[in-house]
Amino acid sequence: MSGRPTVVVTRRLPARVEDRLRTLFDARLNTADTPLDEAALAGAMRDADALLPTVTDRITAGLLSAPGRRVRIVSNFGVGFNNIDVSAAQTHGVVVTNTPDVLTDDTADLTITLLLMVARRTGEGERLVRAGHWTGWRPTQMLGTRVTGKTLGLIGFGRIGRAVAARARGGFGMRVLWHDPFASESDGAALGAERRDTIEEVLADSDFVSLHCPATPDTHHLMNATRLAAMRPEAFLINTSRGDVVEEGALVRALDDKAIAGAALDVYEREPSVSRALLTMENVVLLPHLGSATEETRVAMGNRAVDNLAAFFGGGTPRDRVA
Ligand code: 8YV
Repeated sequence: MSGRPTVVVTRRLPARVEDRLRTLFDARLNTADTPLDEAALAGAMRDADALLPTVTDRITAGLLSAPGRRVRIVSNFGVGFNNIDVSAAQTHGVVVTNTPDVLTDDTADLTITLLLMVARRTGEGERLVRAGHWTGWRPTQMLGTRVTGKTLGLIGFGRIGRAVAARARGGFGMRVLWHDPFASESDGAALGAERRDTIEEVLADSDFVSLHCPATPDTHHLMNATRLAAMRPEAFLINTSRGDVVEEGALVRALDDKAIAGAALDVYEREPSVSRALLTMENVVLLPHLGSATEETRVAMGNRAVDNLAAFFGGGTPRDRVA
């Protein structure tokens, strides 16, 4: 390769990250911040040495196997990389990296935010005040559910799940149960969290169930009608992982049937579309995929993605290589 590597960046990134990209590479920045369509992505795969996509860009087997592809590394902006066909990347010798660690704390903070919001009915309360419908304090107004001392069940006990456990234990004295086929007993012991052998055991005993698994074929619709029915009727579901881990239609039915008490969601099966029924339910909190959305974390994610590119083009192995 002669000259600086060409990097196509699919969305606007924080200014500091874009400056760094310009300094290190022949960076094609998306100043308009409009999503690249399939043809634009195909063009980028042909014309650039590297692609820096986000969760909304689908990097398919078709793109990775296209004749004339020049891209050799896909440096994903995000810890989750279910937007990329990783096995096709492997087959076609394209390196894939992600941005772990730097978003753990902020995503855990947002999980606790959702838990508190849904338990204490804060979205509903704010809507009441903003609508000018608040008629004044009374002892029985808008009573929620206590969080302190309750049981939190975590499905997925990786970096983010464990950070949520630490907050729930230390901040709210919660009992924490978890299930994760890839974590070991000792991961939980240090946090005073209890491992359960099955998801069903977690669901049966939890007042709050929070999802922290990656989106894989195995976790697709993990929370289906049967699993939602296995939750307690007074329990709440929280999702900051990926939308398709929950079967959204089944969730709507579970809420309609009062099989669970409420839900707090940051991610959806067909983002940015949200099931219409959810929009009308007062016991549901809805956020627009804000898990890692702080200035600090988005700069750190961008820098991590740039570091991975710099290592690759410097001839080394990127720290966050996943394929
Ligand atoms: C980002 C996320 O908003 O990192 C992830 O997996 O879901 C979020 O932190 C998103 O991925 C940006 O591409």
